[in-house]
Amino acid sequence: MNIMRVRDYNQMSEKATEFLVNRINSLENPVLGLATGSTTEGLYQRLIEKYSQGEISFKHVTTFNLDEYVGLEQSDPKSYYYFMNERLFRHVDISMDRVHIPNGAASDLKKECEAYENAIAQAGGVDVQVLGIGANGHIGFNEPGTPFSSKTDVVDLDKSTIQANARFFNSIEEVPTQAVSMGIETIMNSKEILLVVSGDTKADAMAKLLEGEISEDFPASILNKHDSVTVIVDEAALAGS
Ligand code: F6R
Repeated sequence: MNIMRVRDYNQMSEKATEFLVNRINSLENPVLGLATGSTTEGLYQRLIEKYSQGEISFKHVTTFNLDEYVGLEQSDPKSYYYFMNERLFRHVDISMDRVHIPNGAASDLKKECEAYENAIAQAGGVDVQVLGIGANGHIGFNEPGTPFSSKTDVVDLDKSTIQANARFFNSIEEVPTQAVSMGIETIMNSKEILLVVSGDTKADAMAKLLEGEISEDFPASILNKHDSVTVIVDEAALAGS
C-alpha cells in the first residue's frame, strides 16, 4: 500500500481529486468505482469544480457505486442514488446510462446483484475503485465476518454501522438494516484502489489496517494483498498508528 499522509480533510480531498483527475484524463474510457458517505463529499465537490474549469470531462466515464440501502427508491433523498446525483452526477457531463448504482428497491434483489456483477464485467472491470473505511473496518457494506470471496450481494448492516449512519436520517429506526453491496472479491478485482480516510473516528481502523494482519474479522485488511492501493489519510486518522 502506498500511504500518502496529509494534514487534514481538505488536503485529503485535494490529493484525492488530483489522483482522479489524472486517471480520468489518462484512461480512454475510465471505469470508476465510487463510494458515498462523508469522506468522499469534498472529493466530489472538487471534481465538479475541475469539470466547471474545463479540466475534466465525464463524457467517457462509466461509474459503479459500491452500495445502496435495501428498500429505498432512487427518488428517496436518503438513497445513495440521490446522494450521488446531488453531490456529483447532475453537475457534470456524465451520461446517466453509464452510471450504475445497485437498485435497493428491486423486486428480485438476487437478480439485481447478479446483473450488477455482469455489468461490471461487461464494462471491462473497474479501473479505479474509490473506497472509504468504516470504523469497524468495513469496505463497501461488507461488515466484519464477510468472506473475502464475496461478490455483490444483499448484506446485513452492523449495529455500529446503523448507528454511524443514523446522522443522515431523522431517527435510528429509519436507517435500513440491509444493503446491496459490491463484494470484497468484486472490490479486490478492481485494477487500482484509492482509499480515503479522515478524522479521529477512523484512527483505530487505520492502525489496524497498517498492522497488516489479514483477517475476515477486519474486512479492509484484505487491501494489504492488492498490488495497487493508494491510501490518502490525514493526521487525525493516523493518530493511533
Ligand atoms: C459508502 C461505503 C462505506 C463508507 C464508509 C465510510 O458507499 O461503502 O464503506 O465508505 O462507511 O463512511 P464515511 O465516509 O461516511 O465515514
